[in-house]
Amino acid sequence: MTGVTESQFVIDDRITPRFRVHRSALADPAVFEAERRAIFDHSWLYVGHESEITSPYDFRTRRVGGRPVILLRDGDGSVRVFVNTCPHRGMQIETRAEGNGRFLKCFYHGWSFSTAGELVALPDEASYGENFDRHNLCLAQPAQVDSYRGFVFLSWSTSPGSLLDYLAGAADYLDLVADQSDTTMVVSGGTHLYAARANWKLLSENSYDGYHALTTHHRYLAMLKASGKDMARAFGAGVRTDASTVQGRALAWDLGHGHAVVGAPDRSRGQNFPLGRDFISASAAHAQAERYAHFAQAHGEDWAARMFGSRNVVIFPNLAIVDLGMGITIRTYDPLSADSMEITAWAIAPGEDHPELARMRRENFLTFWGPAGLATPDDIEALERCQQGYAARDAAPWTDISRGMVRANPLTTDELQMRTFWREWDRRMTGTIHPSEVAVSPRAGRVALPYDARVQSAGFR
Ligand code: FES
Ligand SMILES: [Fe+2]
Repeated sequence: MTGVTESQFVIDDRITPRFRVHRSALADPAVFEAERRAIFDHSWLYVGHESEITSPYDFRTRRVGGRPVILLRDGDGSVRVFVNTCPHRGMQIETRAEGNGRFLKCFYHGWSFSTAGELVALPDEASYGENFDRHNLCLAQPAQVDSYRGFVFLSWSTSPGSLLDYLAGAADYLDLVADQSDTTMVVSGGTHLYAARANWKLLSENSYDGYHALTTHHRYLAMLKASGKDMARAFGAGVRTDASTVQGRALAWDLGHGHAVVGAPDRSRGQNFPLGRDFISASAAHAQAERYAHFAQAHGEDWAARMFGSRNVVIFPNLAIVDLGMGITIRTYDPLSADSMEITAWAIAPGEDHPELARMRRENFLTFWGPAGLATPDDIEALERCQQGYAARDAAPWTDISRGMVRANPLTTDELQMRTFWREWDRRMTGTIHPSEVAVSPRAGRVALPYDARVQSAGFR
């Protein structure tokens, strides 16, 4: 496709080629208000993982799309999401981050709700008269709640359609995480919660930005090298420059609906973490090789190579899953204003993980991805400094995201993934259609595992 499509925010020029985003999209409070409606009210948004609420009556509180919610497991095993506000006068029903309880009791005037959201008791009910109907005072729920392979999402309207349709090609990338366990993937205890004075879309961009690693994270890479890591093997030919067009073997993919991924399959049969320190012991390396062999047998060599490879996927608009083998991070970020966001991140790992591999993954979650880790503070510094630059957007109005537009098979260090995000963002905000730059990768249709059936039978309301 050649030509130019443009709006007030995005200029998508396939002739030069050049892709530009107006910095008002990243800094203007009016844009922030508009995207609350156009983006966050009409997308499937990540709430949490089923493994966080394994026992009946477990709950977690979250903010999703700017609204407080309670994610809980009901007594019948079903997963529910309620709006965390009391129908009486609005108090947050549950103020703790997590817990377990048969009832949700409002601290303010003492109304109590069942885990199905029904008002079951209130002090001095007689004062409301004989026509009082508790059923009119249930806890509110999002328009839709659904789950895919243990990942629970909500939408605040019915417009996004079904979750699976919305996920499009990104569903494969949840499969690639979920398939890493024979039992279930488990979100480990502990949450990274931090904030940044930067527009939320900068973190979508950053979460799959391969271009910045060598500069922003040069100290981390120097540490890796000093630790004895074989950098040539980690970053060698065949991993970063393979331009094969077979899905899963090339490097950046438009997954449809604004979702995109960068990554590479593993060519070491489980013996190399591209961005991680080497194995902490021979037994850990052996365990990982055994895991690879097991999954290659179970799912085939191609799927195992993808599972054990690396990938950074952003599911539009604000869910990033970064799977580098050395650990898997689930990250979501809720905007607070045009120039600030709250970031939440969790580690997820196989429930039956080898103890030493589990330790490695936990340590990497803390020391690489943690808010005080070896990577995240550098990223946040970059994002906040970008944001400060946007104060001068009258003088310097445009951001450039053109890298790799000339390539038929964009690399992880190119910017196809960000352009994919921005094309969807602009379509939602202005109605402008920017055609896809490369063939969109649909869901490959991996066979459903029994776990899918279990998730579906649990039921959602
Ligand atoms: S606000 Fe909840 S009982 Fe009054
Ligand atoms: Fe980074």
